[in-house]
Amino acid sequence: MQVLVTGGMGYIGSHTVVSLIENGHDVVIVDNLSNSKISVLDRLKQITNKTIPFEKVDLLDIESLDGVFNKYKIDCVIHFAAFKAVGESQEKPLEYYKNNIYGLLNVLFCMRKHNVFQLVFSSSACVYGTPDKCPIPETADIRPQNVYGRTKTICEDILKDTASADDRFSFAILRYFNPIGAHESGLIGEEPNGIPNNLMPYITQVAAGIRDTLTVFGNDYQTEDGTGVRDYIHVCDLAEGHVAVLKWLENNKGYCIYNLGCGRGYSVLELIKAFEKVNNIKVNYKIGPRRSGDAAICFSDPSKANLELGWKANKTIEDMCRDSWRWECFARSTEL
Ligand code: NAD
Ligand code: WQD
Repeated sequence: MQVLVTGGMGYIGSHTVVSLIENGHDVVIVDNLSNSKISVLDRLKQITNKTIPFEKVDLLDIESLDGVFNKYKIDCVIHFAAFKAVGESQEKPLEYYKNNIYGLLNVLFCMRKHNVFQLVFSSSACVYGTPDKCPIPETADIRPQNVYGRTKTICEDILKDTASADDRFSFAILRYFNPIGAHESGLIGEEPNGIPNNLMPYITQVAAGIRDTLTVFGNDYQTEDGTGVRDYIHVCDLAEGHVAVLKWLENNKGYCIYNLGCGRGYSVLELIKAFEKVNNIKVNYKIGPRRSGDAAICFSDPSKANLELGWKANKTIEDMCRDSWRWECFARSTEL
């Protein structure tokens, strides 16, 4: 299949491009490079031995996007492109609603015009907000607690309404839990701009000496060691989930939702310990106050994806820590 990957130069998109190519798909990447670098393309070529068509296009520019659909014979779309920082979304709601919602709408208008009817959408565990119980099934209540999360629920609703009004469309919504890790080559990984918001890039930057100390956000939660528990998933396992859902879409129609997670939680302190052990390096940390809006515990029930897609996360927390560190070392040693 010829897959249009929006946001394919970013963290999850670039790993998915590798998996798609390894599984025999052709890929076209559309990205405006607002949160990624052009050098990713060369590194993807090194990994895959393929020159991947890339179009530097902003999804908000529907004429240019239409040009991409004219230029290539697209069979389906995987839509990663979005803004994703929770804190920033609270400060810039209009920018987040504009980018994440208009971006999807423009993709859908172009798809309809060019008779492309299958799309995989990147959603997030944050649509569940603070869950009533864990593991979280796809049927749990939807109550996002920030602007970013609301952009995801609005997009999910747009897709649901579109699928029910026009049965030519098939949509797969993937709700990712906490992606970490990097490709084992060490050539691609997460490249946060400025101070990282997420735990793993903060850990790797402290280990690399770029930042002094990691602040653990609270140790008074109702968890085993008092720190927050999350469902970390290796980004390469996540990438494979997209290949699995494309296969599923070949034989199924309509609108479906899958959690992509490991189905178990690790606390902040457990993740730090695992990182220190597997990489034999110290991570300076101190305990600080809770971060507002954080749930104590959040982990998935991934059994629906396991059963229906035949997909399962295989990589261990040690793999995630090792690969995150290898990537950090590469990123620091090269002018990316
Ligand atoms: P990322 O920022 O690394 O990648 C997104 C890519 O989209 C970037 O390369 C950026 O330049 C591009 N982009 C953004 N707006 C665009 C636009 N208007 N036109 C063209 N390109 C545009 O993010 P990621 O971590 O790879 O996340 C991918 C998707 O998965 C996002 O939709 C995100 O909301 C979702 N998600 C991410 C996480 C996570 O923790 N990383 C968790 C759950 C869901
Ligand atoms: C993980 C744990 C923190 C940083 C976010 C988004 C979610 C999804 C994934 C996009 C928590 C603790 C963190 C630090 C810490 N992204 N922590 N010190 O908040 O689970 O999820 O990213 O869709 O939508 O909300 O991930 O990595 O920020 O935090 O102690 O410096 O680490 O409190 O328990 P989170 P995270």
